[in-house]
This record gives sequence, C-alpha cells and structure tokens, in this order.
Amino acid sequence: MTNSEQAAQGERIVPMRLQKFLARAGVASRRGSENLMTAGRVRVNGAVTTELGSKVDPLVDVVTVDGREVRLADGSVYLMLYKPAGYVTTMRDPGGRRCVASLVPSDRYPGLFPVGRLDRDTTGLLLFTTDGEAAQALLHPSFEKKKHYLALVHGWLTHAEAKALEDGIELDDGPCAPARVEALRMGDPRAAIFADAPKGTSVVGLTIHEGRKHQVKRMLEAVGHEVVRLHRDTFGPLRLTGIEPGQWRMLTDGERARLLEATRGER
Ligand code: URA
Repeated sequence: MTNSEQAAQGERIVPMRLQKFLARAGVASRRGSENLMTAGRVRVNGAVTTELGSKVDPLVDVVTVDGREVRLADGSVYLMLYKPAGYVTTMRDPGGRRCVASLVPSDRYPGLFPVGRLDRDTTGLLLFTTDGEAAQALLHPSFEKKKHYLALVHGWLTHAEAKALEDGIELDDGPCAPARVEALRMGDPRAAIFADAPKGTSVVGLTIHEGRKHQVKRMLEAVGHEVVRLHRDTFGPLRLTGIEPGQWRMLTDGERARLLEATRGER
C-alpha cells in the first residue's frame, strides 16, 4: 500500500519527526536513525538533514538514506503473542484443537500468520505478521538470530552435559549448532515463571540459532534431561514484555525496525 492509499483508507499520516519516520520505515531503531542523521547520511528533498527536531510529511517529502529513497512500511502488521500452553501453532486445526488463531486479531488483519512454531505445551513469545517476505527471511536457516528458552527439566545439568550442548550435540536429524547453556540458580528471578515446579526439577536457559522440530526438548533429552515445561522469552531482537499469557500486542516502532534490520541480507 502506498502512503496515499494508506491515507485514503483513513490511517492518519501526519508530519512526524524524521527519526520516527525512519524507524517506522524499518531503516533502524529510533536511536540508530538519529545516528544516521547526525552522520549526515539522511537527506530530505535533497538537503542533508542533521537536525534531530526536523519533521517530515510522509505524503510530500522525499527522504533518502545514503541516496536510497525510504518510504513508510507498507502497512504490514507485526505483533507478538504470549502463547499460553494448550494451543497449537496453526491458524486452523481440522481436528478442532484450540489454536493460536483464536488469540490474535486475525479477522481485523487477514493474512496474519505465525512466524515459526512453538509446541502445543510450550509457552512464550510467538511472532505474527502479514509480511510474508519478512517471515520467509526470519525462517531461513541463514537467519542465525538467537532464540532464548527457559526449560524446566528433570534433574540437574552437569558441567559435562552443558559442555556437550555448547560444543554442538548430534541429534537423529543431524548435528546442532553450538548452544549457549546456563543452569539457573534457585531463586533466580527468571525461574519464577515455573513457580509451581515439581521437586527434583531445575531450570536451564538455552540459546539456540536454529528452529528444528522439538529441538530444545530433543537436545536436553539427548543429555539425559526430560523437559517438563518450556518457555521462549526472546526471538531475535524481540523480548517478551508487557503482556500476560494469552495476550498480544503490536511491536513498537523500534522493535519492528530492529526486526526488519535483522532480516536484511536475507531478502
Ligand atoms: N523447541 C522445542 O522442543 N519446542 C518448542 O516449542 C520450541 C523449541
């Protein structure tokens, strides 16, 4: 959708600060956009604009960064859901199971779909978008952005087991890339998510860069620890904040810019 089509559809596009415009267009975060401006890389109607208070009218002004024209994002929607347990990651389930579609505004935003998947019993950050190109880039194996999980496991991870995961463990569908592993101490506030943890369990933080089926559960099982519960709290540059289980929220301009920045090079 062009800016004037957006305006015609009633979305209010008013003059805005240049750094906000750049962030909304997905060029960089607001801070990053300010840096681009002060570095003299941004022009408005041909004139270098370093003044942080400058405003632009997206319907009229031509903004360029390093000579390339920048337009407002095309109206794609990006939101995060705090997925609760008990929902399958699909927009329609012929078997009638509860699915994540019922938790996000899919009627308001046709074409909204989840980027990747979490198991039915996994909780945490699930990204949704209508931007197929970004989703494809985010799911591409070369998109090596980090995902952080908290896993409640039976028993306690030994140093040797943690090292095996950090070196890159072999699963039946091939070797895993090295993971970052952290055994959380009792009382670590991050472990509070598993408030009613049964006796004999402990919490492991795991950062991986891949997205294979049941990957975290299989990795931990491979070193002898069954996963009792699993929660994802980050996805690339995004952190799960500001919402409760079952709630969703739109990404902020800064989050969207960082996400799109992270897909650059993949599309
Ligand atoms: N790894 C898993 O095993 N399950 C998930 O839901 C996500 C990552």
